[in-house]
Amino acid sequence: MKTKYQVQTGGKLYLAGEYAVLTPGYGAVIQFIPIYLSATIQEATAYQLASDLFGYQVDLTPNKDYALIQETIQLMEEWLKDQGISPKPFDLHLRGTLGEEGKKYGIGSSGSVVLLVIKAMAALYELDLHPDLLFRLAAVVLVQRGDNGSMGDLACIAYEDLIYYQSFDRAWLHEVLTSQPLSQVLDLDWDYQIRLIQPAISYDFLVGWTKEPAISSDLIRQVKGAINEVFLKESQSAVKILEKGLREGNQKEIETSIKRADKNLKSLNPLIYTPALKELQEATEGLSVCAKSSGAGGGDCGIALSFDPVETQTLIERWKEKNIEVIYQERMGDS
Ligand code: PMV
Ligand code: MG
Repeated sequence: MKTKYQVQTGGKLYLAGEYAVLTPGYGAVIQFIPIYLSATIQEATAYQLASDLFGYQVDLTPNKDYALIQETIQLMEEWLKDQGISPKPFDLHLRGTLGEEGKKYGIGSSGSVVLLVIKAMAALYELDLHPDLLFRLAAVVLVQRGDNGSMGDLACIAYEDLIYYQSFDRAWLHEVLTSQPLSQVLDLDWDYQIRLIQPAISYDFLVGWTKEPAISSDLIRQVKGAINEVFLKESQSAVKILEKGLREGNQKEIETSIKRADKNLKSLNPLIYTPALKELQEATEGLSVCAKSSGAGGGDCGIALSFDPVETQTLIERWKEKNIEVIYQERMGDS
């Protein structure tokens, strides 16, 4: 009996810096969400790929549904060969959907799937890959596919932590990938920043789900043109104060930075705040809790930070009245 390996990957949500983080040099603060996808992998005589998302299995013959998984496998096999390892066929089964009843939460499913496949293949070859290498390999897959995101999801899900993230120039990476071998590209200085943040203050972190699905890539296409210098500067200032406030345990700085990020996003494009996301944010009225849309907006989730357990309950009740479901809650900074 061949050894069966199991791996998992979680999700992420933006606290601040969304859209601005698409521009290299501008950052975001991103929270890891421990809601997991899992995968099992085992050596086999032929490739067999199965995902809970689709009701059928495939091999490596190009398939539209499985393209993301197949392209990740292809990249990993190229990387393995560079390491002097000959690829072998396997049986890979992906489980979980980062959502419920066929509805996604919008906490990073495609990025999580790419990292899941990379981790599964690393497990099969008993290789322990550093989060930074996981991030780079996954970023190569997404950049080669023409993904228009900042890769902040990959950074957060690879490091499984609360992070400050600043992107590299994706057009540059796309370009060097056409002219240099993979192993060489992986060794280059990509000029991104990933810093772990350990909050020095306790608070409740809440995720409110609007139950409306949004497609980040579509929103990016529609909103991108509105990103200007004023928006970028304001976002970066809010993000920097948020990072500082978290590290130093300064509640006032955390609150004001989330409020500034919220206002800045509202002014960027009306598509971001759907009526449900507006309600999610306005439910903080009269409380010291701060809340905002998270990520691309247009649906999916919003986040809230509460420094008072009584206010946390009030917010949860207010959200419930508005049909906003708390899908995740964590007491932060208590370690
Ligand atoms: O909606 P999400 O969680 O996929 O976040 C998108 C965040 C953007 O800044 C709008 C895009 C990106 O990839 O950074
Ligand atoms: Mg989203």
